[in-house]
Amino acid sequence: MDLRDPTLPGRIHRAFDELRETDPVHGIGDGRWLLTRYDDVVEILKDRERCTTDIHAVRGYDRTRPFGAGSDLERVQEGLLINLSGQDHRRVRGAFTRPFTRASVEAQVTGLVERLVDDLLPNLPEGGGEVDFVEAVSRWLPAQVFQRLFAMPEDDLERLVDLLHQDTVAIDVLLSPELVDATQLAEAQAAFLQLRSELDALARARQGGDGGDLLTFLTEQHDAGRLTWDDVLTQAMEALAAGTSTTMTLLTGMVEAFAEHPEQWARLRADETLIGPAVEEALRYVSPALSMGRVAAVDFELHGTQIRAGDVIQCGVLPANRDPRVFDEPHAFDITRSRRPRPDGAKGAPGQAGAAHVAFGGGVHTCLGAHVARLEARVVLERLRERYRSISIEPGVAVLHPTLLIRTYASLPVTFHAG
Ligand code: HEM
Repeated sequence: MDLRDPTLPGRIHRAFDELRETDPVHGIGDGRWLLTRYDDVVEILKDRERCTTDIHAVRGYDRTRPFGAGSDLERVQEGLLINLSGQDHRRVRGAFTRPFTRASVEAQVTGLVERLVDDLLPNLPEGGGEVDFVEAVSRWLPAQVFQRLFAMPEDDLERLVDLLHQDTVAIDVLLSPELVDATQLAEAQAAFLQLRSELDALARARQGGDGGDLLTFLTEQHDAGRLTWDDVLTQAMEALAAGTSTTMTLLTGMVEAFAEHPEQWARLRADETLIGPAVEEALRYVSPALSMGRVAAVDFELHGTQIRAGDVIQCGVLPANRDPRVFDEPHAFDITRSRRPRPDGAKGAPGQAGAAHVAFGGGVHTCLGAHVARLEARVVLERLRERYRSISIEPGVAVLHPTLLIRTYASLPVTFHAG
């Protein structure tokens, strides 16, 4: 699998289907592996004996220091929750969990998301017509939500969106180095540092205040001795960056899926109770985070392949979510899927006949912002459902960037039909 192949996004599911059956631990370069089976992905994401998220454990990391030895960028990368492990992970995650519980998000964020979506609705043709959904809605909403949650200055949203987009490139350099050239890395570094210094100034001004926003919350955790100042800035950046491109892809992919499956849109229009299940099915079907990395902490064997300590294992979230062992007709977009049993007869998720998707990962690193992303998708669906009888799309117009990490859309021209 050559990630630089521009035709890959168009045939990615076929490529993953083949690997899942013939080569479930697929070598993607020196000491790097891609897993495509659901059970393997779930097992490795949760495995804290054989695997770690400590990037120092990557073979050669300490020698090559890909983010720049001693640089601010390196400090930020090493402090990301996603890269922390053990006691450090528990401490930082524990200090930042409260605002992201389902109850907090429902109570504190719903009104904001509804207002922001309503403000974006004029970008969509009320009486129907064609529009680029990325440019109209999904490029802006996730960044706006976090801009407001962190009470950042509201001007210059475009610049913030660009900075956050470049940020994810810096993370890619570790996972798919062949996709990132030196210029892109330098731009990503500059974006990271720019954002960090802006957040630093804002956080210092917030300290000791009673703003009630997430940045003030983080400074309170610092002042209570639970977070270092570096943690404050790093967690703010991680929430902003992790919550933006991913949710943008979810919103876009969800609209694309409905446009391609008009019968599912008709079902949703007929039954409001399907909104929640539709969001879960969109998460499974779209899988915005294509794969998540783990580092082998010890030598071990998986399906006869020898993995060595220091190897990077990419847990393929997208192919796992399309595994036919677990999801009946996995390539079908079916918003009533949770009523279907698992084909292998194993028990489903609580309250569901079917299996739980792994779009938000699994184990202790399960996505912190899952309920915010779900909320945004739900409100967008509610509003589109009220307004439009159907959505249509020309085949093959969506443009997705190839990456092992976060899939992103450049654009999605769709036609909304009012009624
Ligand atoms: C559809 C949108 C989203 C998707 C698909 C997604 C996906 C994921 C996945 C798969 C992981 C697990 C990483 C791993 O196991 O290595 C993760 C972790 C994380 N996500 Fe999300 N995410 C989304 C939205 C958000 C939002 C809105 C936030 C904002 C706070 C966020 C913040 C994080 C953080 C901080 C982590 C690291 C958690 C930890 O390591 O303990 N994500 N996300």
